[in-house]
Amino acid sequence: MNDMVILISGGGSNMVALAKAAQSRQWSKRYNARIRAVISNRPQAAGIAKAQELGLVTQVLDHQDFRSHPQARESFDAALAAVVKAHQPRWVVLAGFMRVLTPVFLDAFKGSVINIHPSLLPAFTGLHTHERAIAAGCRFAGATVHWVNAELDAGRIIDQVVVPILPSDDANTLANRVLSQEHVLYARAMERVFKGETSAL
Ligand code: GRF
Repeated sequence: MNDMVILISGGGSNMVALAKAAQSRQWSKRYNARIRAVISNRPQAAGIAKAQELGLVTQVLDHQDFRSHPQARESFDAALAAVVKAHQPRWVVLAGFMRVLTPVFLDAFKGSVINIHPSLLPAFTGLHTHERAIAAGCRFAGATVHWVNAELDAGRIIDQVVVPILPSDDANTLANRVLSQEHVLYARAMERVFKGETSAL
């Protein structure tokens, strides 16, 4: 069983790419892999409407609702873990999910959380990756799908894609070009996961 829950925060284009790959590449039949739910921590995330249009189950858990809790981050993560668990996924797939997860969440899904990051890790962890790659004079950028551990963008690499940086690029044009390759990469990486070709440890 390779069922997934996808976590998003924004536009959800990677989520859409995974949903389309699931259909066109017959993930349910070939890998026993279905998308059980798409969950956003932001109520206004555009990806939620896109997921609904695709007929996927959607849910919102707003991290702002946990602001007044004494341990806001851990409280949110515990609530998120419960929401995700209810769908009984084998894999938790982060697709533009813009929050750092604490061990409260990660320990509940040990070895099952996967992320996509818009750089050639281990270079450029964190935010503003394209801006930083251009500023550093890099000739190539890219994206990485990796296992998630407690350290930011540092888990084992599953797969990568390389994208040339053109002299005319700014962070925006580069981000768009990388994003279209992310969509191809994520589907390919998930098939490696389904086939057991990679593991978190
Ligand atoms: C992607 O570049 C992803 O790598 C990064 O945030 C962006 C999300 O895009 N973490 P989308 O929401 O999948 O369209």
